[in-house]
Amino acid sequence: MTHVFTIAIDGPAGAGKGTLARRLADHYRLNLLDTGLTYRAVAHALIQHALPLDNVSAAETAARQVDLARLDRAVLSAHAIGEAASKVAVFPTVRRILVEKQRDFAKTPPGAVLDGRDIGTVVCPDADIKLYVTASAEVRARRRLAEIESIGGTANFAEILADIVHRDERDMGRADSPLKPAADAHLLDTSEMAIEAAFLAARAVIDDVLAKRDKA
Ligand code: DC
Repeated sequence: MTHVFTIAIDGPAGAGKGTLARRLADHYRLNLLDTGLTYRAVAHALIQHALPLDNVSAAETAARQVDLARLDRAVLSAHAIGEAASKVAVFPTVRRILVEKQRDFAKTPPGAVLDGRDIGTVVCPDADIKLYVTASAEVRARRRLAEIESIGGTANFAEILADIVHRDERDMGRADSPLKPAADAHLLDTSEMAIEAAFLAARAVIDDVLAKRDKA
């Protein structure tokens, strides 16, 4: 059986894991799945139907209907949908449905880079590489503000920071699959690091694992 290669990337909102995941998938020619989009798709479906975010059975139905090939980043990337996604992500049954789809995706040759909150701990505990990408809340808030301003928007730093801290608390504090580094994850703190440096650091970790495997 051909070995399917898996790179699991976890970390809090805004730490740069999405960009890193994309760069690594390109470099190692692997499939790419931003699992946050799957939770966002569920939240989006509820919002579209004007249903409350704590309607678990509607959230389960929406989760079953999530099609990984049709996740529309342009629609799903809105800030409010991220907040709502963090709320529907607390429901274990919703998680189970989405995790199954994410695992199927990971199994497709030649393998994949998946980024999210519970990839190394729950979705792909046997991943070949696990990275935990983090940055201080202040740095993440500053980056988000710069991003908003770069597209002509305005925002308040204190509000963005409060949002980030709040989202961290919800994602790290939930009972089912909370955000935390897997015991065997490589930690990458990007607070003082540009994306290129983070990419190079991740490649060093991955190439090291690949070289050891070739020798074995
Ligand atoms: O990475 P993101 O901002 O798109 O994720 C949105 C929310 O979805 C996040 O706050 C928590 C949830 N999520 C999750 O619980 N597990 C994942 N693997 C990915 C995202």
